[in-house]
This record gives sequence, structure tokens and C-alpha cells, in this order.
Amino acid sequence: MTARAACFGFVVAAVTTGPALAEAQSTDRDVLNYRRHLMITLNEQSAALGMVLSGTVPGDAAAHLEAIALTASYATKAFAPRVLGGEARPEIWTKWADFSRRMDDFARKTAAAAKTARSSGPQNVNVLDALACKACHDLYRDETKR
Ligand code: HEC
Repeated sequence: MTARAACFGFVVAAVTTGPALAEAQSTDRDVLNYRRHLMITLNEQSAALGMVLSGTVPGDAAAHLEAIALTASYATKAFAPRVLGGEARPEIWTKWADFSRRMDDFARKTAAAAKTARSSGPQNVNVLDALACKACHDLYRDETKR
């Protein structure tokens, strides 16, 4: 009971003071790490999805697509601060309208794919079309940079 109360108190403190602090104090390194975490999440979820779709393991393909769509839905915001570094190309910010539209389209497409997988089965999803990772990477990610 005491432990539970302490834990609850910590969460409340983090929720009430956390966002304000994060916005005021996030460094360029934080921005880089945050968007990297999101991309690695996309990568891991895509790998897990591939294993389920190929029948290597039993699993819920729709759940992985939902996780991808959810991550994509807040990824645009992670790139909004103009912080060069990592594998990001400067074109992300000089062509922001195109970049953000691509990310938002990606979120929409994967959400639609997740819905289809949930309602009529993953065999009815065009996964290659939904997971258009490479189209964006070809334009906005420089893998030679890291
Ligand atoms: C709309 C553009 C866009 C889409 C869509 C996108 N990415 Fe990325 N991705 C980027 C950019 C830009 C970077 C470089 C970010 C950086 O280094 O700060 C990146 C970096 C990465 C990295 C390197 C992370 C690291 O630093 O180790 C991986 C892995 C990755 N993406 C996987 C994926 C996968 C998998 C998908 C699709 C399921 C995907 N991405 C979809 C733009 C995109």
C-alpha cells in the first residue's frame, strides 16, 4: 500500500512538472535521441510484424501495425525542432511541407492497414505499400552520416 502510494505520487509529480521541464530544458541531444527512439521503434515493430506475417511465430499482425501507426502519428512532432544531426538530412526542414505530409500519410496508411488487418485479416493488407519507409529514407535520411 505504501509502495503503491509512493509510486502514484511519483507519477503525479512527473505528469504535473514533467512536460513543462522537458520543453524548457530539452537539449539538441535529447531531440536527436527522442526521434531516434521513435525510428527504432518503427524498425522493431516492422521486424516483429514480418515474423508474424511469415508465420515464423504466432502473433497479432494487426497489433504490430497499430503500434507502427501510433508511433508514426506523433513522429512528425519529433522532427519539428530543427536540429541537424544523426542521419537527418537538412532537406527535412527546407522541404518541411513535403516531409511532414509524408510522415502524416505514413501514419494514415498504416492506421488504415491496421484496421483492415483487424477487420478482415492481415492477408488483405498490402504491407509493402503501407510500410513506405524507404521512399522517405531515400530523400530525408543519410545513412552514411552516423
Ligand atoms: C516520412 C519519413 C520517414 C518515414 C516514413 C520513416 N522514416 Fe525512418 N528515418 C527518417 C529520418 C529522417 C531518419 C533519420 C533521423 C535521425 O537520424 O535523426 C530515419 C531514421 C531511421 C532509422 C535509424 C535510426 C537510428 O538512428 O539508429 C531507422 C532504423 C528507421 N528510420 C526505420 C524506419 C522504418 C522501419 C520505417 C517504416 C516502418 C521508417 N523508418 C519510416 C524518416 C522516415
